Amino acid sequence: MRTRIAAVTAASTVLLMASSTIAVAGPQAQDAADRVITGRVHTHRIMEHIETLSVDIGPRVASSVEEAAAADYIADQFASMGYDVEIQEFPYANTIGYATLHGSTDERLLTRVGGSSPLTDGVRAPVVDAGFGAPGDFPADTAGSIALIQRGQETFVDMLANATAAGAVGVMIANNTWNIFSVNVSNAQIPFVTMNDEAGEQVRAAGDGAEATLRVERHTTSQNVIATQPASNPRYDTGEAVVFVAHYDSVPASPGANDNASGTATLIELARAYAALPTSMELRFVAAGAEEVGLVGARYYVNQLPQDDIDRIVANFNMDMTGTAGEAQSMLYVNTLDGDNLVAQSSRAAAQRLGYGDRIFAPFHRGASDHVPFHDVGIPAANHIWREPGTAQLEPWYHTPHDTIDNVSEERLRIAARILAASSYDVIRPVRR
Ligand code: BES
Ligand code: ZN
Repeated sequence: MRTRIAAVTAASTVLLMASSTIAVAGPQAQDAADRVITGRVHTHRIMEHIETLSVDIGPRVASSVEEAAAADYIADQFASMGYDVEIQEFPYANTIGYATLHGSTDERLLTRVGGSSPLTDGVRAPVVDAGFGAPGDFPADTAGSIALIQRGQETFVDMLANATAAGAVGVMIANNTWNIFSVNVSNAQIPFVTMNDEAGEQVRAAGDGAEATLRVERHTTSQNVIATQPASNPRYDTGEAVVFVAHYDSVPASPGANDNASGTATLIELARAYAALPTSMELRFVAAGAEEVGLVGARYYVNQLPQDDIDRIVANFNMDMTGTAGEAQSMLYVNTLDGDNLVAQSSRAAAQRLGYGDRIFAPFHRGASDHVPFHDVGIPAANHIWREPGTAQLEPWYHTPHDTIDNVSEERLRIAARILAASSYDVIRPVRR
């Protein structure tokens, strides 16, 4: 692998060919190159993808049918832009719990699966309010019903044993806070899910006779979505490749609007921006599955690459949480594991050129996202994420049901997308070398 650091730092001294115009050398040429790509990136399109992923599809837990639906959506987007698209399946087994409250419209509740819950592809029954789940709390008509139990007095083991004894066919355990805990009860006889106080209140408010469906399913695969475009200008083809990555899965019970519909949506929009541009190297856009369960999709992607392919990849741009509206999260951190690598340097320089020099912190030493497997095989890799200056804190609703589109900032999305566009184009654009 040849180092490209020189190419970036000396970018203003080489001739630039962007679109069909040959720009003159110097800082103006660099600015013109930035405008070529940033002018093609539209925040409203990014917001639309976030809406599809986080509102229409919702939580996209590794291996779930929603994760697969999101993969199909992303694949359709890439295909419509003319990319070669592959849905790369890999083994990953996960048990996922769902609860739907039926009414004039069916409401999907944000739930986690109870550990060791028996599987069911759909038990539908009326819900009864079973108080705290003490033996005397179960109403007479509990048999054949789904028991809603408030956490607070009984142990989880007792709640489930009492519900089973009362003849319930399923259990929903509601927390007393916004949080959705996950609980492992080893002797569960009937399907059960956990939920937060809001969802519990929603079920209670539906009243006597309201019906719900519980599903607890085990799925065994997840998938990456890979879009590829060869260097479009053979004369300037360096034989190299750049890989953009964002994970599109979420944690359970979180719509994952910022984590990470934001990065996925930005990935899709960058792919659109690049689709018709002359480039000097192969581009790959990888929407990675199963990140939240241990970077599984990205690691699978990297592990199946032949060594000569790894050697051709000069940069990995990762975006994970690029749109938070969290007030304190005002700094775009560029996380690497090897200090000031090509991606960190390029993003810092791009931010400065675009007037965002005071909004970027690069590099910052941090793993915990899909840039790690790329770094592990020697590829310069960096993750882009909004954090709080100084403390590096993430948004308060990180990994909660409140990671919704209402907590996404168009302005932050725009800044991050522009920096990523200008940063990557500085590596990718055709230049005479
Ligand atoms: N987006 C989050 C958090 C994040 C992003 C941390 C970028 C650091 C850099 C990410 O999806 C996440 O939650 N990661 C897990 C680790 C992973 C190995 C399961 C975490 O930080 O707990
Ligand atoms: Zn994430």
